[in-house]
Amino acid sequence: MRSLIDILELSVEEIDELIATANGIMADPHKYSEKCSGKKLATLFFEPSTRTRLSFEAAMYELGGHVIGFSSANNSSASKGESVADTAKTVSCYADIIAMRHPKEGAPLVAAMNASVPVINAGDGGHNHPTQTLADLITIFKEKGRFNDLTIGFCGDLKFGRTVHSLIQALSRYNNIKFILISPEELRLPDYIIRDTLEKKELKYIETTSLETAMPELDVLYMTRVQRERFFSEEEYLRLKDSYILDTDKLSNAKKDLCIMHPLPRVNEISVSVDDDPRACYFKQVLYGKYMRMALIMKLLGV
Ligand code: NCD
Repeated sequence: MRSLIDILELSVEEIDELIATANGIMADPHKYSEKCSGKKLATLFFEPSTRTRLSFEAAMYELGGHVIGFSSANNSSASKGESVADTAKTVSCYADIIAMRHPKEGAPLVAAMNASVPVINAGDGGHNHPTQTLADLITIFKEKGRFNDLTIGFCGDLKFGRTVHSLIQALSRYNNIKFILISPEELRLPDYIIRDTLEKKELKYIETTSLETAMPELDVLYMTRVQRERFFSEEEYLRLKDSYILDTDKLSNAKKDLCIMHPLPRVNEISVSVDDDPRACYFKQVLYGKYMRMALIMKLLGV
């Protein structure tokens, strides 16, 4: 039995296989419509979510399976003081696979250590978000046709943005990737990722506060929301929330084939006028995410 807590638990070859499966599903969804019949997915969401939870649920339904779960800690026995370990043991009696989102870093790992069914980390605090990374990777592959030889800008809240952390770790395994880390000083990428991933693997990276100067070089621009819920002070959030706003003017010196990504939800950081630009890929990313979750569920269930 295998869980997915950290994106690096999947080898590069396995990621290629998941992308191939997702492409196969897109080409012929009917072929997959009974693959998980009789199986149940439990979505245990202790934090708000639209895309991740609903795409897991849609994924399981499209595989012919069933879904049970809760969408807020208040609706679960966590509000009575139940531990994550006990919740995981309990839900293992009802479901064949679990997707868990939790505000505490490491909670899905604790669940995986206690569950008797596979557990998928659907986002743990400001730490990791491996299934968003699967959505991001297939988007990059479909748009750019490769994972090597790319200059990728990450812009916004690189400190608390868990999708950024997982995607940088995933991309660190390909060749000749240059990372441009664009953030206010206060929201820089955590030192442990700089040290243990970028520097340890001798990857090319620069840190900057300027989106404008980085723009002409970028093949991919990964915008992120400032993560209000992880700030200690509302004042600090208000000061930083509009640090970067991508609009059509700022794209004037961007590459013609730039791929603009965002894990969503967007607040202010991409103007809606950018949505009509053919380089805007963030809603495609949403759709691809569902197919990658279908591929992942099948892999972890061994069907
Ligand atoms: C992200 C998350 O939850 O980390 N959303 C998502 O799953 N697509 C990004 C965010 O909340 O900003």
